[in-house]
Amino acid sequence: MLHQVNDHSLGSGGQSRASLREDLQEFLGRETPLHQLDDLTKVNPVTLETVLRCLQARYMADVFYTNAGCTLVALNPFKPVPQLYTLELMREYHAASELQKLKPHIFTVAEQTYRNVKSLIHPVNQSIVVSGESGAGKTWTSRCLMKFYAVVAAAPTSWESPKIAERIEQRILNSNPVMEAFGNACTLRNNNSSRFGKFIQLQLNRAQQMTGAAVQTYLLEKTRVACQASSERNFHIFYQICKGASEDERLQWHLPKGAAFSWLPNPERTLEEDCFEVTREAMLHLGIDSTTQNNIFKVLAGLLHLGNIRFANSEDEAQPCQLMDNAKCSVRTSASLLGLREDMLLETVRIRTIRAGKQQQVFRKPCPQAECDTRRDCLAKVVYERLFDWLVSVINSSICADPDAWTAFIGLLDVYGFESFPNNSLEQLCINYANEKLQQHFVAHYLRAQQEEYALEGLEWSFVSYQDNQTCLDLIEGSPISVCSLLNEECRLNRPSSAAQLQTRIEGALAGSPCLGHNKLSREPSFIVVHYAGPVRYLTAGLVEKNKDPVPPELTELLQLSQDPLLTVLFPTQPKEKTQEEPPGQSRAPALTVVSKFKASLEQLLLVLHSTTPHYIRCIKPNSQGQPQTFLQEEVLSQLEACGLVETIHISAAGFPIRVSHQNFMERYASLRRLRPHTPSGLHNLCAARGHSGQLPCSEETTLQTVLRDLLHALPALTRTAATPADPLHCGKTKVFMTESTLELLEGRRAQVLEQCARCIQSGWRRHQYRKQERQRQAAVLIQAAIRSWLTRKHIQRLHAAATVIKRGWQKWRVRMACLASKELDGIEEKPFSQVPGSLSSSPLPPGQSRLQGAIIRLWPLGLVLANAAVGVRGFQRKLVVCACLQLPSGNPSTCTVQTAQGQTGVMSIRALPQGSIKFHCRKSPLRYADICPEPSPYSVTGFNQILLERHGPVHV
Ligand SMILES: Nc1ncnc2c1ncn2[C@@H]1O[C@H](COP(=O)(O)OP(=O)(O)O)[C@@H](O)[C@H]1O
Ligand SMILES: [Mg+2]
Repeated sequence: MLHQVNDHSLGSGGQSRASLREDLQEFLGRETPLHQLDDLTKVNPVTLETVLRCLQARYMADVFYTNAGCTLVALNPFKPVPQLYTLELMREYHAASELQKLKPHIFTVAEQTYRNVKSLIHPVNQSIVVSGESGAGKTWTSRCLMKFYAVVAAAPTSWESPKIAERIEQRILNSNPVMEAFGNACTLRNNNSSRFGKFIQLQLNRAQQMTGAAVQTYLLEKTRVACQASSERNFHIFYQICKGASEDERLQWHLPKGAAFSWLPNPERTLEEDCFEVTREAMLHLGIDSTTQNNIFKVLAGLLHLGNIRFANSEDEAQPCQLMDNAKCSVRTSASLLGLREDMLLETVRIRTIRAGKQQQVFRKPCPQAECDTRRDCLAKVVYERLFDWLVSVINSSICADPDAWTAFIGLLDVYGFESFPNNSLEQLCINYANEKLQQHFVAHYLRAQQEEYALEGLEWSFVSYQDNQTCLDLIEGSPISVCSLLNEECRLNRPSSAAQLQTRIEGALAGSPCLGHNKLSREPSFIVVHYAGPVRYLTAGLVEKNKDPVPPELTELLQLSQDPLLTVLFPTQPKEKTQEEPPGQSRAPALTVVSKFKASLEQLLLVLHSTTPHYIRCIKPNSQGQPQTFLQEEVLSQLEACGLVETIHISAAGFPIRVSHQNFMERYASLRRLRPHTPSGLHNLCAARGHSGQLPCSEETTLQTVLRDLLHALPALTRTAATPADPLHCGKTKVFMTESTLELLEGRRAQVLEQCARCIQSGWRRHQYRKQERQRQAAVLIQAAIRSWLTRKHIQRLHAAATVIKRGWQKWRVRMACLASKELDGIEEKPFSQVPGSLSSSPLPPGQSRLQGAIIRLWPLGLVLANAAVGVRGFQRKLVVCACLQLPSGNPSTCTVQTAQGQTGVMSIRALPQGSIKFHCRKSPLRYADICPEPSPYSVTGFNQILLERHGPVHV
């Protein structure tokens, strides 16, 4: 830490800054590891980077659901996770007393929604908006939600019903396979991609039991019937009938095995969705009997054969186009399956009828080949669209409860997410327009939720300056001029206009909008709308035509003449319908364009949503390959943008994206009080808060609040100096709310304080080290001196002891000598020295010499002295003395030589008296150094000999 702080203060090295960031990250997110964070708004700070890291950590740990404030983020596992959707788990969530304490799950959302209905708090009706990219898991999620309600909200009476098919929940669930068979297809992004939007209203009675449901669909991609991308497929139902029909049915529907249909690409691909039996069963449960089913499949087979009709270009414009080879057969089969007359079918497809003039005169004009193809495709599309709508109405009539049988509803919206392709057209414009509308609804809801959180924390703050996507919506649907109004006007005027002209008109009329971009690099005429999720380029070519979605009246008339029972229902001959499609006396385009129809249904939907409490589930695809355990950050990021989660982060940033609990705030920034200007009151508060011990009693909430407030008082002084917003920090009831810039400021100041502290600690430590070393040095000197003195004392003591021994010996010897001498001199008879060890009595020496030797042996110290005396005994006598002293063998004195070091200090003269006595004359004591401290020498022998040897040199024998 010290290192980091110093580095920070010096501003050196990205590495140290990175480690500081990590430290800050740890502080902000220290309460829980990222993968355990159940709510994305709890990551600190709420930035895209941390949100992505959190999602990734969870995905890798097989945790697929995460809260994001009022939204649930659902990551597609791309692998079966059956334990996540068991009946037991559903019941567990349903029975939970504290729902929010359970792990995030779609069941949490479902149960919360259900409890809201139960609570009867206004608004009672609820809605769950499931959005996301194609393949992200919307349909899966909606299905799971429906299953959940079918379990928890099942009416007890329905279980008494003997037949499972009669149960309302089962019927509601059965609507899924039917609608998916007719409305889903295999695309590049998803094998089971829904090609329509769906809002299903689950109706609940007073006892919150499911009594029925109603389905509303939006924008079916009907062009897919006649036109599929090379690696995509038509709607699943076509493949189901081709693969699952019995032999009889094949004969009936003219679908021989292996037959090729141009509107049935990639039939070899087998998907789990190709289950004809499941669809039929579900249809049966929904009240569509097998006769009607056969009729439906017959019509669908008729459409497949219609797709095989090919036209050749006619050289004569006045003549209708010729049929290509084999096409005749297809015309015949198709006409018979659709209950049409073959010639009428051909004529209607190839010849256009024009009514003109006041009398509505009819002109017939053969169409060129391209137009024939368009009319053929249009015929198929209109049949399929009506069939789909009819199916929805049948399903509704089967599952919808009487209006007085239900009192509340839960709406599930499975809607396509934001789309942006290299080339976009009217379909994308409508989808993105719907997403903009839903986003606005979501933002308003999220803002409200945020505002509520602030209010709960006691913060008086509002998002007054927050800009939502209204400007973009004004560009698309605004009044009086917008993209929609311009497109509708083009349709109404029915004037021939090129794509380039339309681009000029849009750019000219809407030039003032900040959301209209210009793509000068694009060759094709286009305009750009800057959506909340990013800019999208829409090609103007074909836009007006698609908006008109013209169905030539003669096609409808032809179908009205069909003998097929189903087509008769789908195309009734009602004068009312005719007026709607083509008002009499009006040769212009139909008043209802695709855009205006879509806008109307969208407004209807939003009205419903506004009247409910919304809940949001954002489905995210972690990778586009459908691989489990693969999390691609860029792909997820673009989806987070598209589903508005980035917006929630921006909203969060517009308020106070950083929320830190009081405790954590205090722990990290309490040191900042050092920077506070000293005011007596502030100090007083602080002292009061610290109590007697001087420690922060953090456990006591009230005291904590006081200290916190005290600290917050100090902050304006800090913030005043920095370029921060006026209101950078708020203290809520449990948390401190702040902006990114305030956090930066606080961190900067904290680094300053830490640096000061670090310097203080470093200098203190150095001082301490220096003092310690100094003390150690002094102690060492003291110890050394003491030991030296002790050693010296010891040595001297030993020398003294030695000297004392020598002195005593010498004194004894003197006394004895004196005694001996006086005895000798006084003529006392000499006694034999028989008791002397090593006696020389056996010596062959003459008696005079033997006696002398005996005396010498007894008096060997004296002998030594004699031998070394400077004067006195010489020659043989001297040798004899030395031999006796050293106890050398005395057999043959000639074998050894005795040298004495006379002539030096010590005994000055020796005189042998006639009685055999010897007299010494000493100048002074031979041990004259005995009382002097000799130099200690490690190799020397101590004692008497040493002194002799050192002072008088060695005795050479
Ligand atoms: N929760 C999930 N568990 C397992 N597989 C899932 C889950 N959600 C989605 N999938 C897989 O992803 C595929 C696409 O999901 P789907 O709901 O059809 O996407 P969408 O409706 O968003 O286009 C599903 O067919 C399924 O295989
Ligand atoms: Mg779907």
